[in-house]
Amino acid sequence: MITLTTVKDMKALCRGWRAVGRSIGFVPTMGCLHEGHLSLVRESRRRASATAVSIFVNPAQFGPREDFSTYPRDVERDSAILENEGADALFFPPVAQVYPPGFSTFVEVQGLQDRLCGRSRPGHFRGVATVVLKLLQIVGPDLAFFGWKDAQQVIILRRMAADLDLDTEIVACPLVREPDGLAMSSRNMYLSPEERKAALALSRSLSQAERMVAAGERDAAKVVAAIRAAIETEPLARIDYVEAVDLAGLEPVVKISGDVLIALAAYVGSTRLIDNIRVRA
Ligand code: PAJ
Repeated sequence: MITLTTVKDMKALCRGWRAVGRSIGFVPTMGCLHEGHLSLVRESRRRASATAVSIFVNPAQFGPREDFSTYPRDVERDSAILENEGADALFFPPVAQVYPPGFSTFVEVQGLQDRLCGRSRPGHFRGVATVVLKLLQIVGPDLAFFGWKDAQQVIILRRMAADLDLDTEIVACPLVREPDGLAMSSRNMYLSPEERKAALALSRSLSQAERMVAAGERDAAKVVAAIRAAIETEPLARIDYVEAVDLAGLEPVVKISGDVLIALAAYVGSTRLIDNIRVRA
């Protein structure tokens, strides 16, 4: 695996791949890799002939009181893991490569960026869309892989790709969970043993909701109320939002019918976690 840190070198590598007819799969990450990330790398290896992974903790998607400076970073470990997975290239640029002095262009996916997580993280999806567009410009992949763990991110990036006529297909891969159900996340590292136990309330509440829908419940408000009640029994957890929304516009639904995303965010201690399920009725 080759590791590159400049935009110029990364562009040249990917240009070379294209010149010899290799299809490019790309997996953007912020590092601190876990099985959720690796599922994307494996899918890229299956579907493309060259796989590039980026590790870049993107300052533009963190709010002023968020965890940019403390976000876990361990590029040595990540790079050994990626080597072992058979990734072909790691792009690991410093902040000044991505945002040189004078940088002033941002991408906004209006409407979608303000829903769900966008409400409590203003500017977050503007930062995500901007960095992902830049990375896609640098790599020029045929396929770019993202996880349903961040469902709103997938939906926003698909909108951006369609609106801006990008040549990259946005591929969404399933949410990977710990054996006990907790959605894998780099931020799970922040949890104390008690908080780790408490965090299970999130996935448990969603499994319960899944069973309610399977048993015939179609009233979105009832399903949301049941999820809230289940999380509220856990004293260490504090709900940010729980919503049942349509998959295209992320607008709240009244009835569970068609494809519905049930998404939530909650603080466990001071760590903000997200989780979701998709239900069909
Ligand atoms: P990060 O949180 O590092 O996640 C990188 C990719 O891994 C995202 O597509 C995310 O959805 C996926 N992922 C994380 N946990 C997952 C899980 N448990 N199951 C499946 N996929 C999972 O998301 C970002 O970074 C950034 O916003 C980024 C897209 C890199 C832009 O900065």
